[in-house]
Amino acid sequence: MEFLDLKTQQDRIRKPLEKRFNAILDHGAYIMGPEVYELEEKLADYCGVKHAISCSSGTDALLIPLMAWGVGPGDAVFTTPFTYVATAEVIALLGATPVFVDVYDSTFNIDCEKLEIAIQDTIKDGKLIPKAIIPVDLFGVPARYRLIQEIANTYNLRVIEDAAQSFGGSIGSKKVGTFGDIAATSFYPAKPLGCYGDGGAMFTNDDHLAEQCKAIRIHGTSLDKYNSEVIGLNGRLDSMQAAVLLEKLTIFDEELAMRSKVSNYYRKYLNDAQCIPENYHSSHALFSITFDSHKKREEIVNTLKQNNIPSVIYYKYPIHLMKGFGYLGYKDGDFPISEGLSQKIVSLPMHPYLQKEEIDQVIESI
Ligand SMILES: Cc1ncc(COP(=O)(O)O)c(C=O)c1O
Repeated sequence: MEFLDLKTQQDRIRKPLEKRFNAILDHGAYIMGPEVYELEEKLADYCGVKHAISCSSGTDALLIPLMAWGVGPGDAVFTTPFTYVATAEVIALLGATPVFVDVYDSTFNIDCEKLEIAIQDTIKDGKLIPKAIIPVDLFGVPARYRLIQEIANTYNLRVIEDAAQSFGGSIGSKKVGTFGDIAATSFYPAKPLGCYGDGGAMFTNDDHLAEQCKAIRIHGTSLDKYNSEVIGLNGRLDSMQAAVLLEKLTIFDEELAMRSKVSNYYRKYLNDAQCIPENYHSSHALFSITFDSHKKREEIVNTLKQNNIPSVIYYKYPIHLMKGFGYLGYKDGDFPISEGLSQKIVSLPMHPYLQKEEIDQVIESI
C-alpha cells in the first residue's frame, strides 16, 4: 500500500504530458515559457482571482509577499507552531519575528481568540510592530478567514493564506486562494496538485501587490531584466513543471472528489479525525487522526508498520521547540495544543486511488 500514489495518476496523464514535454524541447523556452503563462491563467480562473503568479516553491510564495510589504527586523508576524517549518522560516529569513499562536484541537488551525490576545500582548509589550498574519490551512482544511480578516482589519494587519496544503479546498463557494490579501500554495510533488519538482504560486486580487510579486520573483525586475528596481530573488517556475501542472489540472476536480470519498470512508469507522467544519471543504492533502496518548499513538504506528501500512507523523516537533528557532526563547508548555498534537497525531495513507480494500485494512489494523 502506498502512502501517496503518484504512479497511477501519472499513467493517466502520461501521453498528453509527453506531448507537452516534446513541445518544450522544441520551443526551448525552459523557464517562464508559454506553459507558465497558460498555467497562471488557468489557476486564476480555477480559484476565481485576478492574479495567479507562479513561482519556484511554496516557500518562495510565502516569502515574496512579505518582501513586497517590506517586512523585516522589528516586525511581528503571527502564525502557528503546528505547521511545516517553511511557514515560520520565511519570517525569520527576513529578520522579522515569528510570534506563535496555538491551534484549535479540532481543526489544528490557528485559534482566533488566542491570535487576538497575542496581537494585543505584542502591542502592549511595545518591542515589535505587528505586521501580518500567516494562517495555515493545515492538511487541506481552510482556517477561519471571516474571523481572521476581522482581526486583521481591527489591527491593520496583512494576511497571507498559507494554502500550501489546501489548494482545491473552499469555504462555501469561495475557493482557497481568495482569502487574505494574498494566498501562497506549493506544488511540491506530494501536494494535492503537485508537479515533478519544486513549484508554487501566489493568488491575489490586488493589482499593485501582484506587480510587486511578479518583479520580486525575477530578481526585482519588471521593465528591464538587467535593471533591478527592488531586491528580489530567483523565484521563477520552469516550463516543464508548468506542463505537469497543466495536465494534472485536467483531472484535479475528479481527484479531489476521490480524495473526499476516501476521507468519508475513513470517517465512518475512525473517531478523532481532523474536524472539517460545516460548509468547509478540505483538499484532503492528508488524513490525520489523534489518539488519547503518546503511548497509544506509538502502539498504532507500530501495528501499522507490522502490517506494511505506511503512516507519517505530521508534525513530530512543533516549530517553537525546534533547535533552529531556540533563539526566540519559547519553552515546552507554551503551546499545549500543538505540543499535544505532535505527541498524539498520525497521518494515514491518503490519495485518490486508494482502494476500499486498502482502507479496510488500515481501519482493521487500528
Ligand atoms: C504548510 C506549508 N507551508 C509551506 C510549505 C512550503 O512549500 P514548498 O515545499 O513548496 O517550499 C509547505 C510544504 O510542504 C507546507 O506544507
